[in-house]
Amino acid sequence: MNGKQAAGELAVKYIQDGMNVGLGTGSTVYWTILKLGERVREGLQVRAVPTSVRTEELAREQGIPLIQFADLARPLDLTIDGADEVNPQLSLIKGGGGALLREKLVAAYSERFIVVADDTKEVAALGRFPLPVEVVPFGWEITSRRLAALGCEPILRRSDRDGTTYHTDNGNYILDCRFGTISDPGSLGRELNALPGVVEHGLFVGMAERCLLGGENGSVREIV
Ligand code: 5RP
Repeated sequence: MNGKQAAGELAVKYIQDGMNVGLGTGSTVYWTILKLGERVREGLQVRAVPTSVRTEELAREQGIPLIQFADLARPLDLTIDGADEVNPQLSLIKGGGGALLREKLVAAYSERFIVVADDTKEVAALGRFPLPVEVVPFGWEITSRRLAALGCEPILRRSDRDGTTYHTDNGNYILDCRFGTISDPGSLGRELNALPGVVEHGLFVGMAERCLLGGENGSVREIV
């Protein structure tokens, strides 16, 4: 068992009967969803909010009951999601899979937010992974120049499939922004939020309560 599978599966222990849960996106949460599917088939009662079309399809295949995000009467009990980088303060870079906007909306409307990743995602300081920034297509070139003025090198994301411009589930573009070491993620996040044209960015600061880090040997370390 690899680190992603070990961490992804273990996170299901936090899901209890009757909970409403947010399901993140990516190859680590994939294992969470498969394990949760097993539990549901054994009788666990949950309702889930998926953070992407991909996750929604997988959850449906697994027979996990879904609820519309807009129909929640109160915050989700728990959200489980992956990350591209995790620092010791549990600040994250997310969005490598392109789902950062819905992921942030869902995590922000959750009582608890637990991150699952393999231990290659653990870093002393964020910034090795280019920061995904979701922008509106209108005038994205201008937004890109304004982002560059904040000290990064933005690259318009292209689809792996055919090389055309990548569109998020929300119809927006993603600029992958190489900032180098991000010493103050909170302050950079606020600067990005203030930029017209930016819909959301992949810095998740002060949101995660714990991170399950899986190792190659199948062991899992929890950092809180
Ligand atoms: C998607 C994400 C993913 O959680 C992140 O990219 C990690 O993915 P994986 O578990 O496949 O490494 O933020 O938008």
